Amino acid sequence: MRSQRVTRNPYTSNMPKITFHYSGQVKIVEAESGRTVLQIALDNGVPMEHACGGNGFCITCMCRVKHGMENLSPRNDREENIGITDNPDRLGCQARVQGDATIEIIEY
Ligand code: FES
Repeated sequence: MRSQRVTRNPYTSNMPKITFHYSGQVKIVEAESGRTVLQIALDNGVPMEHACGGNGFCITCMCRVKHGMENLSPRNDREENIGITDNPDRLGCQARVQGDATIEIIEY
């Protein structure tokens, strides 16, 4: 773990906290419930591949959920059809945040 940066809004402290692990770094951000892991990553400068534009067809946004799988939306048909059926893997563009989670970005 090289560095840890926290982006927090003191007026919205009840928002889910998403911890991203990527490129030897850790970044913790607060996010609006219902946003996808991909949207949250990109909004906060966390590099996450998304070749199909977040439509669930390319698998480049696949990530590993280290903690908080229960705080993400259930797997949907796009994930299951593309073969993302086992924990801890999720498509970042399909997994919607409903609570705190820790996400490992897979680098290609
Ligand atoms: S961005 Fe293509 S599957 Fe998520």
